[in-house]
Amino acid sequence: MYSVDKGYVESAIDPTIDIFAEIEKLKRQKNVILLAHYYQDADIQDIADFIGDSLGLAQEAQKTKADIILFAGVHFMAETAKILNPDKKVLIPDLNAGCSLADSCPPEKFSTFKKQHPDHIVISYINCSAEIKALSDIICTSSNAVQIVKSLPKEQKIIFAPDKNLGAYINKVSGRNMVLWDGACMVHEIFSLEKITKLKIQHPEAQLIAHPECESAILEKADFIGSTTALLNYTKKSDKKEFIVATETGILHQMIKSSPEKTFIPAPPNNSCACNDCPHMKLNTLEKIYLTLKYEKPELNLPKDLLESAKKPILRMLDLSAKFGL
Ligand code: 13P
Ligand code: SF4
Repeated sequence: MYSVDKGYVESAIDPTIDIFAEIEKLKRQKNVILLAHYYQDADIQDIADFIGDSLGLAQEAQKTKADIILFAGVHFMAETAKILNPDKKVLIPDLNAGCSLADSCPPEKFSTFKKQHPDHIVISYINCSAEIKALSDIICTSSNAVQIVKSLPKEQKIIFAPDKNLGAYINKVSGRNMVLWDGACMVHEIFSLEKITKLKIQHPEAQLIAHPECESAILEKADFIGSTTALLNYTKKSDKKEFIVATETGILHQMIKSSPEKTFIPAPPNNSCACNDCPHMKLNTLEKIYLTLKYEKPELNLPKDLLESAKKPILRMLDLSAKFGL
């Protein structure tokens, strides 16, 4: 007996099973690929078939031969996998795993905004709903956003949605003047510049590395800015020994694994909460993943016309990324 009324499978789990072994067995039996974002808990990253940033995960979803995609991430990521694989079963451990950034851009309001700028094209950050993707010309991620914008003619008028922080960062480095939708990520807006400054005094050798979803005051102080994959690669290659990491804490797992001799300090939030943990990403658990594999629920589905209209701007991004060698 099981229920999915709450958006995830509720069912008793035999306490004597080895959940890691059972997950491996079910993945093999059902030809499932388990994709996980770097913001997932360490145990989920450890059982994933592929761990990546939003671009890497979309690329992996595009090329997989698996029959079922199980996406340990948030809703918009699973939607992207479904849009790229309309005939495959796409599972998500908890349908409630949303994204504050995607939620900050409701399609009806965005459609009105778009009509107010008729001579602009729309570039949307992948952290948005399928409906926003369908209203966009090109999708981007934090890995390719600057290159995509720079590849367009200078005179091209652009609306950038939904992340105003990433948009402002791209405007700064590309010299463009894109019109920005007023959205933001609750996790990346929480870092305290004051506390980071104090940390830098205590750790004078530490480098501040930041995700471009952070506010400009943090980015201005950063020694390196990049997507989660870029941040991880930077810490691997750098000869520095200490890093203050201004993004969701899940990424620290791979940083510590790849460079156990280095020190990684999560950038502190502006209060005492654990707000640099994404509450949406952290809804996924090993138990939910096991039950999702067992019952093949919850399944992510989207209307056929939405799947088709959201696909074009994602494919444009993937084609451009391949052209850039990303
Ligand atoms: P990347 O995966 O592009 O680094 O973005 C991080 C993020 O916020 C995902 O929600
Ligand atoms: Fe969305 Fe921010 Fe969580 Fe990423 S970290 S899923 S942008 S709320």
